[in-house]
Amino acid sequence: LKLAVLISGGGSNLQAILDACNAPDYPAEVVLVFSNQLDAGGLDRGRRAGIRAEAISHKGYDGGREAYDAAVSTLIEESGADLVVLAGYLRLVSDSFVTRWKDRLINIHPSLLPSFKGLGVHQAALDAGVKFAGCTVHYVVPEVDSGPIIAQAVVPVLPTDDAGKLAQRILKQEHKIYPQVIRWIADGRVSVDAKGIVTVADAK
Ligand code: GRF
Repeated sequence: LKLAVLISGGGSNLQAILDACNAPDYPAEVVLVFSNQLDAGGLDRGRRAGIRAEAISHKGYDGGREAYDAAVSTLIEESGADLVVLAGYLRLVSDSFVTRWKDRLINIHPSLLPSFKGLGVHQAALDAGVKFAGCTVHYVVPEVDSGPIIAQAVVPVLPTDDAGKLAQRILKQEHKIYPQVIRWIADGRVSVDAKGIVTVADAK
């Protein structure tokens, strides 16, 4: 399975995916790293791995979100990717982008969806007093941080937590479940029913 990974920041999830891809039996490879931030640290992670890494700044981009996303889609198409992986891509994608990559577009979010959508979710979880938090990998639909849930991982919230500590604990789980989900998809084990419920078939 060929992956295009879209990032905006440090790219620790990208790195976890790149590391997984290094295993000889892993059924996926990254063919494109793309960022909307020209200085995203993750671009170098891609380049170091010998992968095409491109950035287009969204700031001052002519034609607005649709035109921007069309340019991104063109890069993805050129790369030959079969699956678009949002990994800390802090930019809303347009409906036409979602339609273009329907069923081939996944995201990771650092909360147990459908709780705590959007940004600032670690602090929001602390403020709500929840005792467990976690992360979610889901298919992308036009509505932000919604869409069929493929996998989740749970971590405890500790009395000594601040947003940073909680984020670190969750991030460790992100690094496990994202490569795992990509493996499931590559192995053809993931299906979604009409109600948006995902089933992962047993390994053959
Ligand atoms: C992760 O917490 C991810 O869930 C969220 O943004 C963060 C990106 O981290 N959407 P990184 O760039 O992969 O280190």
